[in-house]
Amino acid sequence: MNNEDIFSRIFKLTKPFHKTILKTIAIVGAIAAIEATNSFFLSQVFNLISEGNLISEGFNLDIALIWCSLSMIGVITRIFFVSYRDKLQTKEFETKIENYLDQISINKFLTFSNGQHINQHSGVKQNIVTMGTASIRGQLGMFIYWLTPFVANFTVSMIMLLIVNIWLGIYYIAGAIFLAHLLKRFHANLEPNIKTIREFRDKTSKIKSEIYRYAPFIKNEVAETKTVNELSDIQNNLFKKDTTTWNDAINELSAIRLFGQFLKWSSIFTSIYILHRGYINPGDIFLIFLWSDKFIEAVWVMTDAQKQFINDKINIQKYFELLNTETDIKYLDNPVKDSIIGDIEFKDVCFHYPNREKEGETKTLLNNLSFTIKSGEKIGFVGESGSGKSTIANLIRRAFDPQNGSISTNGHNLKEIDIKAFLRQIGSVEQEVILFDKTVRENISFGLDSLLTDEELNAIAKLSGVHKFYSKLEKGWDTTIGEGGCKLSGGEKQRVGIARALAKKPQILIFDEATSALDMISEREVQEAIDQSCHGKTAIVIAHRLSTVKDCDRIFVMKDGKLLASDNHDNLFKTCEYYNTLVKNQMPKTI
Ligand SMILES: Nc1ncnc2c1ncn2[C@@H]1O[C@H](COP(=O)(O)OP(=O)(O)OP(=O)(O)O)[C@@H](O)[C@H]1O
Ligand SMILES: [Mg+2]
Repeated sequence: MNNEDIFSRIFKLTKPFHKTILKTIAIVGAIAAIEATNSFFLSQVFNLISEGNLISEGFNLDIALIWCSLSMIGVITRIFFVSYRDKLQTKEFETKIENYLDQISINKFLTFSNGQHINQHSGVKQNIVTMGTASIRGQLGMFIYWLTPFVANFTVSMIMLLIVNIWLGIYYIAGAIFLAHLLKRFHANLEPNIKTIREFRDKTSKIKSEIYRYAPFIKNEVAETKTVNELSDIQNNLFKKDTTTWNDAINELSAIRLFGQFLKWSSIFTSIYILHRGYINPGDIFLIFLWSDKFIEAVWVMTDAQKQFINDKINIQKYFELLNTETDIKYLDNPVKDSIIGDIEFKDVCFHYPNREKEGETKTLLNNLSFTIKSGEKIGFVGESGSGKSTIANLIRRAFDPQNGSISTNGHNLKEIDIKAFLRQIGSVEQEVILFDKTVRENISFGLDSLLTDEELNAIAKLSGVHKFYSKLEKGWDTTIGEGGCKLSGGEKQRVGIARALAKKPQILIFDEATSALDMISEREVQEAIDQSCHGKTAIVIAHRLSTVKDCDRIFVMKDGKLLASDNHDNLFKTCEYYNTLVKNQMPKTI
């Protein structure tokens, strides 16, 4: 992505703000014009003084006072313009543009498939968005409040210098072209190093986000020193690269600034000489002093802006790359919406995780997997850890698409249906229940459009077992449960998860180790609740504890991504050796 691409993307992205941007540029330009006119008025006063007529001739005194008054009016007008500009900035830019960019980023973020989310660290993604949007705002500010006055000052200074003395003007134009060349070279040299610095920054933000998130665990493992040292190693590398890069860059910038000063002072010496020779008058000298200074100011602005731009450019590039990322799950424009709930069929499904593919793993996780789950059936999935049970649940929710074969519901391939409508009909309870730092009511109502009433919640509480600990909640349904539900026990969290799944009144229920955190008695109670809620619904119960799936209509026995056998408990116990071993291993503890 080159500089032009970046600016054109920013231009398109900020479309709703174009009017305000234009208005601000006009104001900023007007302020620069007022400054230029003011200096011209004052230069006229200098000319009058130098002519020596100020004291002796009343007529010229009047003119001098008029010039001064015009300049004063200019200064006062400028104050009003600046105040209007600042108000516009507060009202139309600061928070408004920040919110707008956040909305765009989050909307895009939520279009990614679950697979894409799993495969990239959330801390890094958050960093890309935070730094990218901050850099876009920074560059916009730079463009409006720095670059516009710079262009205005630069143009006016060139015109002024050309008017005062054509050769002086040409001298400055040649100098400016050479300066632009130096800045371009500076930019090209610096860019690769800034990219490396940015990679180090990504690594630090990944570690930092995990430290903040998992602080209690780090403390339990007494891994504070190890974690902090790991962070400090990466920070040191970042520091070294940053210092060496910027040391060289700052030297280069200083050379560019010295060149600017050379231009200024050589022109001042020359102008004193040409004044002495009578080619220009003192008013012109005033303008040369002033505008050569403005020129130097512009050079400083450009060098500072370069420093900022190079940093921002990498952030913005990464941000646009994220915005350009297409979701790897494609949706049809006119998906099937009606009668999408029915039998779930896996036909010759082959699947492997795409990220594993990159690492050179050729073995597929699911190999020609075929089965049908009839509508209203209760299916148990058992098998050793890593055999692909949770992956099957994810495929049903279309978190990933299989590389081969098809998955369908009621005869429609998942790729053809309205997946949002389908997901609304699925209630899931995962191994690790995700809870928000919100109230119990909000957590249970999360998949619904509106909050559940106390009566509705009470009914669900009985089914899910939440009523068992309800009396402990200090504000009842409106008790906030902390980050990730940290104010609840593991079993309580799982019951809230079950309640949330039931609240949707779904047609399909997926329990993935939903009762694994419960004690035996609670498990039995929740199990009853699950059994009750499964009536008339398709249910998929994934469990290691076979007592959980014993009563299922059929149990699918998974091994190494393959379906070894499927039947009810009694038949499997007799016919499937592997299942038989699994059962015996758990006897007499749980079954
Ligand atoms: N996002 C992922 N990227 C790469 N590999 C993955 C990913 N998620 C799971 N796997 C791998 O896929 C295999 C199957 O995982 P899965 O979670 O489906 O197993 P499981 O049968 O549910 O195991 P468990 O009973 O322990 O929950 C495992 O070997 C796991 O390492
Ligand atoms: Mg699992």
